Amino acid sequence: MALHRLNGVTIGVPNVEATREFYRDFNLTETAPGVFASADGGEQLSVEYAPVRRLIEVRVGADSPDDLDRVVSQLGRLDVAVERSGVGVSAIDPGTAVRVRVDVAPHIEQARVEATPYNGPGRMNREGRAPQLPQSDDEARGARPRKLGHVVVGSTDVDASNKFFLEGIGFKISDEVKGHAYFMRCSTDHHNLLVQRAPVQFLHHTSWQVEDVDQIGLGAQALLSKDPSRHVWGFGRHHVGSNFFWYFRDPAGNFSEYYSDLDCIIDDQLWKPQVWEGMRALYSWGPPPPASFLRPDDLAELMAGLHPAK
Ligand SMILES: [Fe+2]
Repeated sequence: MALHRLNGVTIGVPNVEATREFYRDFNLTETAPGVFASADGGEQLSVEYAPVRRLIEVRVGADSPDDLDRVVSQLGRLDVAVERSGVGVSAIDPGTAVRVRVDVAPHIEQARVEATPYNGPGRMNREGRAPQLPQSDDEARGARPRKLGHVVVGSTDVDASNKFFLEGIGFKISDEVKGHAYFMRCSTDHHNLLVQRAPVQFLHHTSWQVEDVDQIGLGAQALLSKDPSRHVWGFGRHHVGSNFFWYFRDPAGNFSEYYSDLDCIIDDQLWKPQVWEGMRALYSWGPPPPASFLRPDDLAELMAGLHPAK
């Protein structure tokens, strides 16, 4: 695959200091003011000032300079303006107003263990104490985000966005919620980007991979013990993509997700994209999603271009 990873995102928020504090509590590592690293993906989140919260940039990693040339010609065919520097290519999606930057980047290497410490269907062989649970108060302090998994963004022109990302940048379609949401990948993850039909261009959420369900629970416990109002939706399991999830709200109104156990597409030939309908697509089990997950509370303010953060 020419594209192979998400490098990172830049988000714009009106309240930079409070938002930085949230992502420190989320257990990303702040390597410079407003720049956050995950354990395996490096620096993947930048938080900048913007008068209204929004997704400013998505960065994608490719294998070689030839891949960048291909992106330039593909975008050219769509009549999209492209900036080419020595090391990267960037262009703006007209549907989401997000700048997308493609750079040559090394692959994300993630260590794998052969045996898991979990019982599973037909495999109830774990003995003694569960080794994945925290052994000390220190270990119990939150989750450890391993990488940025995906970003979800509202588009006022999904046809234009789909063309831009699929035909222009080179994402692949994984699944669709009929006429409403398009799951796309630039790696072997089921989705790295979801474009959803919306009345305004906005960032719905970023999602961060953690090791397992216990890490999701530990992360939620740490975030919510400090401020219970951060809770949005969880704990549950999505249907499309299959990942376990728990969503939180940052002080600017963006959602941020811990996930684990996402579907993985190693061989494109063996994956058949499907068109899903209704709530079934959204989750297999868990509490019902709050109305504010489907339609964030500040959408009206965002549409009016007002300052929505508290
Ligand atoms: Fe998600």
